[in-house]
Amino acid sequence: MRRKKPEELRSHRWYGAQDMRSFGHRSRTKQMGFSAEDYAGKPVIAIINTFSDINPCHHHFKSRVDDVKRGVFQAGGFPLDMPAMSLGEPFMKPTTMIYRNLLSIDVEELLRANPVDGVVLMGGCDKTVPAMLMGAASMNIPAIFMPAGPMLRGNWHGKTLGSGSDVWKYWAEKRAGNIDDKAWVEIEDGIARSFGTCMTMGTASTMASAAEALGMTLPGASSIPAADSAHPRMAAACGRRIVDMVWEDLKPSDIMTDKAFENAVMAAMSLAGSTNSIIHLIAMAGRIGAKLDLDKFDRLSKRVPVLGNIRPSGKYLMEDFFYAGGLPGLLARLADVLNVDCVTCNGKTLGENIKGAGVYNDDVIRTRENPVYPEGGVAVLRGNLCPNGAVIKPTAAEPQLLKHKGPAVVFDDYNDMAARIDDPKLDVTKDSVLILRSAGPLGAPGMPEWGQLPIPKKLLEQGVRDMVRISDARMSGTSYGACVLHVAPESAVGGPLALVKSGDIVSLDVAARKLTLEISDAEMAKRKAAWKAPAPHYERGFGLLHLQHVTQADEGCDFDFLRGGKATAEPEIH
Ligand code: FES
Repeated sequence: MRRKKPEELRSHRWYGAQDMRSFGHRSRTKQMGFSAEDYAGKPVIAIINTFSDINPCHHHFKSRVDDVKRGVFQAGGFPLDMPAMSLGEPFMKPTTMIYRNLLSIDVEELLRANPVDGVVLMGGCDKTVPAMLMGAASMNIPAIFMPAGPMLRGNWHGKTLGSGSDVWKYWAEKRAGNIDDKAWVEIEDGIARSFGTCMTMGTASTMASAAEALGMTLPGASSIPAADSAHPRMAAACGRRIVDMVWEDLKPSDIMTDKAFENAVMAAMSLAGSTNSIIHLIAMAGRIGAKLDLDKFDRLSKRVPVLGNIRPSGKYLMEDFFYAGGLPGLLARLADVLNVDCVTCNGKTLGENIKGAGVYNDDVIRTRENPVYPEGGVAVLRGNLCPNGAVIKPTAAEPQLLKHKGPAVVFDDYNDMAARIDDPKLDVTKDSVLILRSAGPLGAPGMPEWGQLPIPKKLLEQGVRDMVRISDARMSGTSYGACVLHVAPESAVGGPLALVKSGDIVSLDVAARKLTLEISDAEMAKRKAAWKAPAPHYERGFGLLHLQHVTQADEGCDFDFLRGGKATAEPEIH
């Protein structure tokens, strides 16, 4: 393999010339206490660090930066900590999703503007994973992703608690009057016991696993709990490896290929991963020109069984998954369907990385003969209610609801739903189909995770725990229920969801992949002619940029001007 020469390094353009500008670059590096021996002729490695005091999932990143730096120094590189915008899922309003593309721009431009030869991307909390990989893909210099790792299992009086999933579950029990305020506070105390990402198979764990199957993390990295000592060791290994990736010139475009995206999709499906991964993986593929669309998800989902028995679709948590063999163990059980020849960031193929990977608990990582679910975790629906597609996670729904017909109960927006859902006079039964609109990329805005509409209180009290719910929103990966999501086009642009009336009959048939509003084409056209577009949410700022350029869910919600296209020119050094 040809290795780069020091004068071929991108950073050499800043440091290597003998002119006034490079004098400034060198003298200012010396100002920070570094001598020529520290950086001259060495790969400059950016550590893009999404630490923030308002992101609990990345609370350990300050010390992990030191671990990555240790590895970079050991391998003969020059590390630089470069903070980027953090997207802390629990706090940001209206939703972190609206800022995913902004972080991707932050990453891309940090790399482009500075003397960087390679990058370690430190992320984990939901949107940070796709955002950082999107930015690195657009910049296309050697990159490795260091997942934040899941937090430890939650605990309440000896009962295991899972992030998100158990919040929804016990909130429903509280609303039904089955647990009191004291218990609710105890659950609050015990559900998040360490730094790290949600430890259910939510969006963070799904996207980290997908990044590993894609080849952008070191083998096994995505399953290591954040608080395990294996985690800082993995961080240092990322630092060592990125230096060699620079010399080898192993770039995202060599790794993030069509076939590698298929591996990422199959990993996510076999984990019954978050439906959010569909949007993110399509956006990531769009950045690097790889082919990935909704139909491919449906096709690949049928090819792989669900083997990861992890909440919310299964029983266990990420810590159990790690002890059972983690992602390498699961992928080894799928080796015959994966594209094992894909090269990964450690320079080896996926097949080489998973060869011989063991599984130590057949209930956590099921065998092919005894899967959690015979097909993957996602079904893509089509029909006159979702001409450009919608998705459902059948593994997370009560099975009898997967073929269902019922009258619509329509909520015009989130506030309408919040005001009426628990009204005893609401005309709703367990057979109704709850519909929420104005929750898509433009309509909400930012497509928040409102797709798991609450069950009306009067039905909760009757023991109902699942209903068919339809929206143009997303759903947290830690949520569950017969929720049809990502309806495209969304209601805010006049999609059919905008035209449904309460009482209309809606029919869902997951096996046939159909979602139908049972009205005539003529009636649909009449309602469409009378539809009026809502007023836009923003008139200035980043929000306006979002409204003007965001694409629909089936296209990944990336900005149209960030997808593929011609490579951006390198900056002039003067
Ligand atoms: Fe950060 Fe769930 S809140 S991963």
